[in-house]
Amino acid sequence: MSKRVLVSGGAGYIGSHVTVELIQAGYEVLVADDMSNCDLTCFEGVKKITGREDIPFVKMSFCDEAATEKLFSDWKIDAVIHFAAFKAVGESVEDPLKYYGNNLNSFVNVIGAARRHGCRNILFSSSATVYGEPDKQPVTEQTPRKPSTSPYGNTKQICEDILRDCVAAYPEIRGIALRYFNPIGAHPSALIGELPRGVPNNLVPYITQTAAGRRECLNIFGNDYPTPDGTCLRDFIDIVDLARAHVCAVARMLDDKMEKEYEIFNVGTGRPLSVMELVNAFQKVNNLKLNYKIVPRRAGDIIAIWADPTLANEKLGWKATRTTEETLAAAWAWEKHLMGKN
Ligand code: WQD
Repeated sequence: MSKRVLVSGGAGYIGSHVTVELIQAGYEVLVADDMSNCDLTCFEGVKKITGREDIPFVKMSFCDEAATEKLFSDWKIDAVIHFAAFKAVGESVEDPLKYYGNNLNSFVNVIGAARRHGCRNILFSSSATVYGEPDKQPVTEQTPRKPSTSPYGNTKQICEDILRDCVAAYPEIRGIALRYFNPIGAHPSALIGELPRGVPNNLVPYITQTAAGRRECLNIFGNDYPTPDGTCLRDFIDIVDLARAHVCAVARMLDDKMEKEYEIFNVGTGRPLSVMELVNAFQKVNNLKLNYKIVPRRAGDIIAIWADPTLANEKLGWKATRTTEETLAAAWAWEKHLMGKN
């Protein structure tokens, strides 16, 4: 009997890509999402890609303790991947209570229900944002976390600590935190991808919407940083590579391969790329000219961050394999798919 993985927030950008990879790896998946930050486009795409019309979907909020309890009593769940959280950095600064309330309560409810229902395995969707502006690059899992510059980033640190402390206190719980760097791109089928609501905060969806004519011009926030071309450096990780890291982490838990009860892994390529390099790569691989201009720096941006992914490579048996060109071609194909739909 296949093991079942609950993907909370599974109708979203990362959750939908992870659902595809889990199903294709032979797991049963239960998707639960409150639909506060997405519509059913990606979930419908998941069904098309996998050929599975029977993927169970529950619309619910994990802030609702009773609904969370019901989910775990209705379904035998062997592992949880917890994505359900608000994730807009700027919004979290304007409305911290919305972020602390939602992101912390939902995770506490998930762990509590998992514990009560014999689900030992908790995989938490964390972020490289916990490192702040690192003193040394590349970043390893031993790089000290820094006080977060946003309530959003702080909820990621706090949730890591909640998981760490629950694993230490409750023998029936064990966990893995995956610290993502900058997830970008879309599934090669162009049936799922990033669907930001309103004006995109992140670079790549802003690029694709500018190329599609939905945005007038891409603003590049600063080219006066102490970097080779003056623009910020990031570790842009392809969304399918990222999704596959989750399958490896779930297998590590379900196949009892963990070496400690709480483990943390950086999920990145290990290759720093500048904003300008990414813009130029997008233009080249998609054979188009992007309208952009250099504007002043964006408050809160860090100069550079990229991963040392050695631990994930060795312990998860996972490595990012997709090239920047493949990723940016897929991102553009997804945007064109969306244009065709609207
Ligand atoms: C990347 C670079 C911008 C938009 C954020 C979150 C982080 C994680 C990933 C959730 C920066 C530049 C961007 C634009 C630009 N999310 N940029 N013009 O800020 O590295 O990380 O997303 O976990 O927590 O902080 O990603 O894509 O916003 O920016 O020049 O229109 O692109 O200045 O240097 P970021 P980003």
